[in-house]
Amino acid sequence: MTAGMANEGASQVYESDRSLGEYLLFHYGSDDEQFPWQEGPGEALGFPRRSVEELIDWESSVGSALDLGCAVGKSSFVLSEIAQEVVGIDFSKSFIGAAQSILQNGKLCYQYHEEGTRWKEGVVTIEHIPQNLTFEVGDACNLREDMKPFDLLHAANLLCRLPDPMSLLTRLPDLVVPGGQLILTTPFTWLEEFTPREKWLNGEESGRGLIKVLNQSFDLELEKNLPFLIREHRRKFQYTVALGMRWRRRKS
Ligand SMILES: C[S@@+](CC[C@H](N)C(=O)[O-])C[C@H]1O[C@@H](n2cnc3c(N)ncnc32)[C@H](O)[C@@H]1O
Repeated sequence: MTAGMANEGASQVYESDRSLGEYLLFHYGSDDEQFPWQEGPGEALGFPRRSVEELIDWESSVGSALDLGCAVGKSSFVLSEIAQEVVGIDFSKSFIGAAQSILQNGKLCYQYHEEGTRWKEGVVTIEHIPQNLTFEVGDACNLREDMKPFDLLHAANLLCRLPDPMSLLTRLPDLVVPGGQLILTTPFTWLEEFTPREKWLNGEESGRGLIKVLNQSFDLELEKNLPFLIREHRRKFQYTVALGMRWRRRKS
């Protein structure tokens, strides 16, 4: 592996059938499918839509948008309602295959975990298939050279899954047009499985470290806590509070 390139071993986590089911449910499942209980953290549902709608500047027009680390693509579909052209990129072939299948067919059947050996059938159905959306496999630390800057870049919970987060952070000014928006969310879940310890951004509290780096080319416009819930099985969930941020690319 070249330094800064995606770690194939760690990324296998996102190629498994279990991850695919979890993420299809997380992105497209109904509230009841995701959390079939009365009691509990309902405010954490619908994250892939909220990470766009609660952080975007609705006053700015958006021609092009990039959804980096898009997984199975729900936020990219949300962005396609707002922007003229949207590209969703993820390192997982399995996730991008599912996103492309939803885009082509408007429908995808999948299975998600109920408990033990029991699985449930889920169906993703998209009523209006957008014509302004494409998905591709790509590495956020090593994006293709011909990538033009976007009016909006959305990267939800990607940073602490990268082998070298700084390699993406230093490329960001070239990926967002002057005056454009950068929407980031991250729970700063540093794990050596994904990111070698010396690459963690936590020389100080991670949020402050991130602000220091981005401040060089962007202005921070909005900070907001965004809880989210990922179902592992019907009685077990990951509850996380990501830090959400909207940044504006400085014009000079
Ligand atoms: C925690 S998930 C977040 C997915 C999605 N943005 C969301 O909020 O549900 C991290 C995603 O980053 C992707 N990923 C990991 N390393 C990547 C890389 N080097 N380049 C692009 N995507 C990557 C994974 O495949 C996974 O889909």
